[in-house]
This record gives sequence, structure tokens and C-alpha cells, in this order.
Amino acid sequence: MEHDRAALLAALALQLDWGAEEALAEAPPDRSAVTRAAAASVPARPMPVAGPAAEAPRQAATPRAVVTLPPMAAPPAAGRAAEAAAAATSLEALREAIRAFDGSPLRETATNLVFADGDPGAGLMLIGEAPGGEEDRIGRPFVGPSGQLLDRMFASIGLKRDEGGFYIVNILPWRPPGNRTPTDAEISLFVPFVLRHIALVKPRHLVLLGGTSAKALLRVKEGITRLRGKWHQVAVEGLGEVPALATLHPAYLLRTPAAKRDAWSDLLLLHRSITS
Ligand code: URA
Repeated sequence: MEHDRAALLAALALQLDWGAEEALAEAPPDRSAVTRAAAASVPARPMPVAGPAAEAPRQAATPRAVVTLPPMAAPPAAGRAAEAAAAATSLEALREAIRAFDGSPLRETATNLVFADGDPGAGLMLIGEAPGGEEDRIGRPFVGPSGQLLDRMFASIGLKRDEGGFYIVNILPWRPPGNRTPTDAEISLFVPFVLRHIALVKPRHLVLLGGTSAKALLRVKEGITRLRGKWHQVAVEGLGEVPALATLHPAYLLRTPAAKRDAWSDLLLLHRSITS
């Protein structure tokens, strides 16, 4: 019995390793029953007879039994995310594709989809981490305290969100419950949607706000303190490499006011680059 349990757990671990992320039916299909049913439907073949009859010309082949397999398993959520993102050919279609995508339980716990804000034609796209409580309630990114700080910071270099200064999105479009940090799995699930978002908006410059955004899009392990203050490149299918400045997240600046000095130097670098 204990052996059976260990074998079952090992089989489950193997499925997880291979990317299975969700149960697809209430009850597991009994695949041995499928095999038994298939065997039962194969007409009995006459036993070969020794002698001349055995060398008689072959009759038309006995039709093969048709085995009905259980429906194809849906691809894992990550594959479906990439397909849904690639199929969206407008921002509106992308918004609806994200809304319809059921591969993440975050959709069930959030109140509103937080898609984007600002002007998609601004040429500058900011990418944050995930909506917080205010954003979830209102359905717009960066409207809480860190969003207010962000608006003041960008206004100080002449970029106002409500005057076409920038466009802003998050890596996650749904609020993680209790504002917890997004998991790596959640981040990679939504990255295809973010990359498609960038491809559709075609910004000249990106600003990656904080470590989650920078790590997700630059695909590096370094923390934000090493990445900030420098231009990097984000490879976007159909668009090529987009220059991306990594900087500190405004929520971090609220907690660590001394870091505002670094954020200010990053903003000046941004201003020089977009006006030169
Ligand atoms: N923090 C983020 O990263 N995004 C928001 O929308 C709000 C807070």
C-alpha cells in the first residue's frame, strides 16, 4: 500500500516536471479501460491454417479497429497564454484575450482587470509589477500612493500621464491576493501578454519599474540595484529590440526615501535620451 502511494506520488511529480499544471476532468480517465474496449472491438482473426490454404492469396486487409481516444488534453497554461497573446491584433483584442484567459487563479480572486492607462501613442511605455488594492478596485494601473508618486516624478521631467506623456501597464494584469509578491510562475505566465502589448504599442522607449519587471523582461538574475540607471534591450517579436531603462519601483521609494536620489538620476538619464 505504502509502495502504491510512493509510486503515485512519483508519477504526479513527473507530470509536474513535464509541465502539467491543472486537472482537466473531474475523474482521471481509465486508460486501461480504453485499451480493453479497443481489444474487444477487434474482430477475432481466424487462426492460420498450415498447408496450401495458408499460402492462398491474401484477402483484402481486415479493417483496423477504430480506437476512440479521450479528447486531446489542453496544452499547459503557458502555451495557451502564448497562443492567445499572439492571436491578438489590437489592444482591444489583447485586453479581451487577457480577460478570457483562464490559466491563472488570480483572475478569480481579483475584482477588476487592470490592463493599461495613459496614451499608447506616447512613444514611452512604463512597465510595473502588479496591481495593488486601489488599482484592483478602479481597474487602472498605478492609481494608489505609489502611482501618485510616479506621476509626480514623471511630471517633473515634463511627462504627464493624462497629457500623452506615457503609457503604463503591469507585468500582471490581476492583483495577487493580499498584495503578495507575484510568483515566478505567475510572472512567466503573463510575460507573453506583456511582450505582445509592447509589440502592439510599438514604444520607442521602455521604463522597467522595479526588479520584477526588469527581471521578467530582461531575463536576468541580477537585482534592480545592479540593473537600474542603465539602458538595456528587450527583444520583442515583430518589433526587434526596444531600449529599456531599468529603475526603482515607486513603492520602494515610498519605503526608502533616500533612494529617491538614484531614481532622480535615472529620470534625468531618461529625459536626456528621449529628448536627444
Ligand atoms: N504597483 C505596481 O507595480 N503596479 C500598480 O499598478 C500599482 C502598484
